[in-house]
Amino acid sequence: MWQTISYVSTVDPSLNDGDMEKLFEFVKLKNNELKITGILMYSDGNFLQVLEGKKDIIDSLFNKIKQDSRHYNIIKIFDRAIVNPCFSKYHSNFTVVGESYDHSELQTFLREEKSFNPDNYKSISYLANKFMKLS
Ligand SMILES: Cc1cc2nc3c(=O)[nH]c(=O)nc-3n(C[C@H](O)[C@H](O)[C@H](O)COP(=O)(O)O)c2cc1C
Repeated sequence: MWQTISYVSTVDPSLNDGDMEKLFEFVKLKNNELKITGILMYSDGNFLQVLEGKKDIIDSLFNKIKQDSRHYNIIKIFDRAIVNPCFSKYHSNFTVVGESYDHSELQTFLREEKSFNPDNYKSISYLANKFMKLS
């Protein structure tokens, strides 16, 4: 069983640049280890995240994320089963996009979603581009 969850949240204002870098590094490493794909974006004090992977792993991770004091106001955008195993050889690693990052990674993520996970693409592409002020 494969599952995808997406949410937006507000960053705890006490986090500094170093804390954010540490969080981004941790998330990338951990998600590649757990074979989770998706994206974590940060813009203007808010996070937007898409997680895709084995249902049990995604569910237990989201429970941890919900309780993490580094953010609050967590609002789920979707939580549903996906048909295609998303961590295929065609897929890239988990992507993190911050304000100072190269947005081409976001475009690569969206392109892959469009072909492998069209439902997610429909739900997320408009919001992701607005979120990063790309359209
Ligand atoms: C906005 C945000 C996104 C996060 N995303 C992930 C994630 O994708 N993967 C992950 O392992 N931890 C993520 N975390 C960290 C988890 O909340 C938690 O700290 C981490 O899973 C370590 O938990 P553990 O020490 O109990 O294993 C995120 C935290 C925040 C604040």
